[in-house]
Amino acid sequence: MRGTMTAAILAAHRVAGDLRPGASLLLRVDQVLVQDVFGPQIFAELEEAGLSRARVPLVATYCDHMVYQFAAEHADDHRYLRDAARRLGSWYAAPGTGVCHQVHAERFGRPGTVLVGSDSHTVQGGGLGAFATGTGGQEVELALMGGGFRLAAPAVVQVRLTGELGPWVTAKDVALELLRRLSARGGLGRVFEYAGAGLRDLSAQERMTIANMSVELSATGAIFPSDETTRAFLMAHGRGDAFRPLAPEADAEYEDEIALDLSEIEPLVARPGRTDDVVPAGEASEGGGAPVAVDQVLVGSCTNGSFADLVAFAEAFLALGGRVAPGVDCVIAPSSQAGLACFLATGLAEPLLRGGVRISESTCGACLGVGHVPAPGSVSVRTFNRNFRGRSGLSGDRVYLASPVVAAAAAVAGRIVDPRRLAPSGARPPRRGVLPTAWPASWPGLHPPAGPEEAARLAPRRPEGLAVTPGLTPLPDPLVVSIVAHLPDDVSTDDIQPARTLGLWRSDPVAAARTILAGLVPDLARRCDEARQAAGAAGLVAGANYGQGSSREQAALGQRLLGVRLVVARSFARIHRRNLVNFGVLPASPASAEDEAALREGAVLRIPDLARQLAAGDGPTTVVGREGTRGREVRLRVDLDREERAVVLAGGLKNHVRDHPVQAGPDTGGAGA
Ligand code: F3S
Repeated sequence: MRGTMTAAILAAHRVAGDLRPGASLLLRVDQVLVQDVFGPQIFAELEEAGLSRARVPLVATYCDHMVYQFAAEHADDHRYLRDAARRLGSWYAAPGTGVCHQVHAERFGRPGTVLVGSDSHTVQGGGLGAFATGTGGQEVELALMGGGFRLAAPAVVQVRLTGELGPWVTAKDVALELLRRLSARGGLGRVFEYAGAGLRDLSAQERMTIANMSVELSATGAIFPSDETTRAFLMAHGRGDAFRPLAPEADAEYEDEIALDLSEIEPLVARPGRTDDVVPAGEASEGGGAPVAVDQVLVGSCTNGSFADLVAFAEAFLALGGRVAPGVDCVIAPSSQAGLACFLATGLAEPLLRGGVRISESTCGACLGVGHVPAPGSVSVRTFNRNFRGRSGLSGDRVYLASPVVAAAAAVAGRIVDPRRLAPSGARPPRRGVLPTAWPASWPGLHPPAGPEEAARLAPRRPEGLAVTPGLTPLPDPLVVSIVAHLPDDVSTDDIQPARTLGLWRSDPVAAARTILAGLVPDLARRCDEARQAAGAAGLVAGANYGQGSSREQAALGQRLLGVRLVVARSFARIHRRNLVNFGVLPASPASAEDEAALREGAVLRIPDLARQLAAGDGPTTVVGREGTRGREVRLRVDLDREERAVVLAGGLKNHVRDHPVQAGPDTGGAGA
């Protein structure tokens, strides 16, 4: 990665380790982002650890997922976050202020920084030239305690852009085109760096849309150069002083190069169930080749809910007829309230309302199945980033992903259609990447960190029934597991722990764990009980890209609480693999097809001297066990660095940190800008 933008940022933040792809790297962190699903546990556990002030220059906590406060515990969580976060030196964004990644970009995004967030789409910050990535709550806590952020150094791939996007084509179509070409696994272990003359055609907001969906490629992140386009975005948001240039060196070395001619990209959609099942919008059809009739259109999310996206949607909607088709429910959820205020000032909102569009609060909401759940059997077109089965809140849902422009066409036509074919002759295509004017210098919902005196007075009221992570035991040695299930490729964290069941985690993690993977293996909890009794622990076998999707660490903790201590998968999504380690579950891969075949359901695998076998290396190591009944040797590849081996053997990150205290620097006072 020599000479790349990734190398420049990582080298400037390196505390230990090296930049060889795959090598373990410990980074100093500039900014941490927390959201309201994981935030209450994070701050409660930091309180219990006795931390009085976050040891990171800037922390921001956003109430964005549970904005509707359907249950009293959501409001209770928000009240707790307001005081606990601010006391620890974090900014606090009250419910309705907006979706974390968008508000963070508008208010705090800085080129050249390292941003870590408890949300997988933190990668959006790469659109402004930051090294931004998501991780689990345990590692966010560690970063806030001053322990830095550890990751495997990524390989860097250059995406060279040429040409210009055609009319009615948007950055979302670029993101979908990459998914079509590379698949949902195409970015494993990689950072995508964007370059080329085509960059000039993409505004900073559009770059953020593309960076946002790099996590759908399973990438560690994406980075765009920081240039005059970046400066224009920062200045429009009143933060020109945050600008600093960032570009690769002329002879930068990349692992691979991808050429993308923007002028060849057309309006696209991802079909239900897979982010990478992408077809041209004009070719989306159902049985018999009929166009797909649409029941619901939703515009919003961190991917496509910005001021610029609202303008693009509104201009397309009005140019295509300006009226929602009969029977279609069309809702926009702006991704920041400040962006909504600027949108209202354009005069475009009123004709939308008159045309039948509803305007929701600024929230993640429907993106994770909170509100606007589609009716059974209906089709929903969404400008969001994920359409995993059931994520909308309805099992058996039919969710298409699309750009705001394709969404506008679907709303008007009542079917999925190429907006270029729907447009009347002479219709003006929507503008892209429009910058807001008169951006508000401050926003009432965004509260700065408490100063020392106020922090001393604040007494955060811990929400009733809020559970913290239970204590976990070390990994048994020898490790004996009974294989309880085989799982397919691309199992997502939504498959493992659906978003709609996350509420259970708040009060009863043990009961919540019993719902893990229920959609794929309904009796998994019973099987794990039997495995624990028979062998001491349970094991899972999975295909490629296990744990793709959201950063939700409950998906890993749930497996651990059921007694799973070994997951053998052909490959793992980065964040989930790390979350398994952080909860004392060993992630491994079969060394060969024969080894995988030996791990059939019901097989008992015994791995002797696990600690000694793991002590043998740093990086890929072969661990040898025996399958019980036939005594066949089974070899597993374990690709963990030295620190991860210690963490998994200790039974998780908390145990490891307890036994090896973090050598944090002096308390910096946290608050920052
Ligand atoms: Fe929120 Fe969906 Fe983005 S849950 S953070 S809008 S991926």
